[in-house]
Amino acid sequence: MNVLLINGSPRKNGCTFTALSEIAGELEKQEIKTLIFSIGTKAIRGCIACGKCKTTGHCAYSDDPVNECIDLISKADGIVVGSPVYYASPNGALLALLDRVFYAGGSSFTYKPAAAIVSCRRGGAATAFDVLNKYFTISNMPVVSSQYWNGVHGQTPEEVRQDLEGLQVMRTLGRNMAWLLKCIDVAKETVPFPEKETVRQRTNFIR
Ligand SMILES: Cc1cc2nc3c(=O)[nH]c(=O)nc-3n(C[C@H](O)[C@H](O)[C@H](O)COP(=O)(O)O)c2cc1C
Repeated sequence: MNVLLINGSPRKNGCTFTALSEIAGELEKQEIKTLIFSIGTKAIRGCIACGKCKTTGHCAYSDDPVNECIDLISKADGIVVGSPVYYASPNGALLALLDRVFYAGGSSFTYKPAAAIVSCRRGGAATAFDVLNKYFTISNMPVVSSQYWNGVHGQTPEEVRQDLEGLQVMRTLGRNMAWLLKCIDVAKETVPFPEKETVRQRTNFIR
């Protein structure tokens, strides 16, 4: 089993990475492989609503990490998305990436357990956390929780390492993710995944 941890921060080894590493440590202890994927610092464009992804399952643009990210999620058993808090939201580059990743590939992520984590200096953690969880809850992905809303505090990795409660929340999340993945692995022999209705209803509330 393997879990993909997406670091949305432009700071590859910063606070978000420190929190993700704490989760990865717990998963590795449970013999679950991990990969921390950094979205980097290059420009990531927003979705242009061209709709080409509806036929290909990938974004029409392949000059940034979006399509690589779709492929990595497709191969993963579970995912964790980590973001620094920018103005009480996830950072813009990560949102641009997630809009396109989920619009193009979201239907293939069904039933993969997912979790969001955020890192902030002081405020806005809960609102940023809510935004990230919405990608999962529109995609049939079971959301993994912890003992508190998944956040750490700090402006540097050293400060995050002093946030003992935040780090414990991350470790608990890692163990909860491992437990759910193992439950699903055992259950898939006897409990079929839920049936999806063949016709997807889509109403725009204009009639
Ligand atoms: C543009 C920008 C906006 C920020 N907005 C907030 C904010 O709203 N609330 C907050 O507590 N910290 C804010 N911060 C601080 C970062 O969220 C915080 O330092 C975070 O831990 C950095 O994580 P990283 O090292 O993984 O990038 C902001 C930082 C930047 C660069």
